[in-house]
Amino acid sequence: MTYVRKDAGTLTAAERRRFVKALLEVKRRGEYDEFVRMHLAYYSSDGERGLRTAHMAPSFLPWHRRFLLDLEDALRRVDPAVTLPYWDWTRDRTTTSAPWTEDLLGGDGRRSDQQVMTGPFAYGQGNWTIEVGVTEGAFLTRNLGRRSDPIALPTASDLEQALTDPVYDVRPWDSTATRGFRNRLEGWSTGRGSGSWRNHNRVHRWVGGAMLGSASVNDPAFWLHHAFVDLQWYRWQRRHGGARYLPATPPGQGDEQQGRVVARHEKLPPWDVTPDELEDVGRIYRYA
Ligand code: CU
Ligand code: CU
Repeated sequence: MTYVRKDAGTLTAAERRRFVKALLEVKRRGEYDEFVRMHLAYYSSDGERGLRTAHMAPSFLPWHRRFLLDLEDALRRVDPAVTLPYWDWTRDRTTTSAPWTEDLLGGDGRRSDQQVMTGPFAYGQGNWTIEVGVTEGAFLTRNLGRRSDPIALPTASDLEQALTDPVYDVRPWDSTATRGFRNRLEGWSTGRGSGSWRNHNRVHRWVGGAMLGSASVNDPAFWLHHAFVDLQWYRWQRRHGGARYLPATPPGQGDEQQGRVVARHEKLPPWDVTPDELEDVGRIYRYA
């Protein structure tokens, strides 16, 4: 049976309560921190040797798709009615709109130390202690919109610039690719200052605090953000007549990217799954 992922702004009070409850239970069981560890372990960048899977690489989309499915499985083992909601940051654009409400993700961090003080993930509630990748403290931090140096969320037209690109990804298959849907959506660019953060990356910047680094999974906002990013892959496929993941075959001899990116039919670590197998998940879930 396929299930439906809903817009966080449309969840009923009961749906919000059950989602939060399941998330807190996954955390209590110790499973949540395994997701934080895994994201840290697979956080690599252009300059590093070896295979890049989760970021700055074509497999940014399938890697996070599978990562989200694993978390969603954990949630559904707690409560089979729960699915991951998505945060449409082209529509819900203020620091008080969905998903930053008291009964979903809670709000902004306080001024002094960016500590989130409201909602179910506030440290004071006793259910959400940061255990992995701790920088400032054991509490969740946010700096929505970056008060000291304001940054705006990407707009619908920013997102459109990614969706309109008919090619999934291009050489050199990293953060410097100037064309291709994947890097336009992931949001690396060579511009200067905050203008150089686009779409996916820019949203991490806008939330700030825990969402800034490789331990961004510590903020449950990570999942809602990435569910919306995942939805864009589906929209892009539909718009471009089922356009496929690239590279279709591994970069060859002499190519600097040989052994550093995952081709369409290669295994995507740490799973026994290929990008090809993750391109169509319509039998597992759909978006409403
Ligand atoms: Cu990531
Ligand atoms: Cu991300």
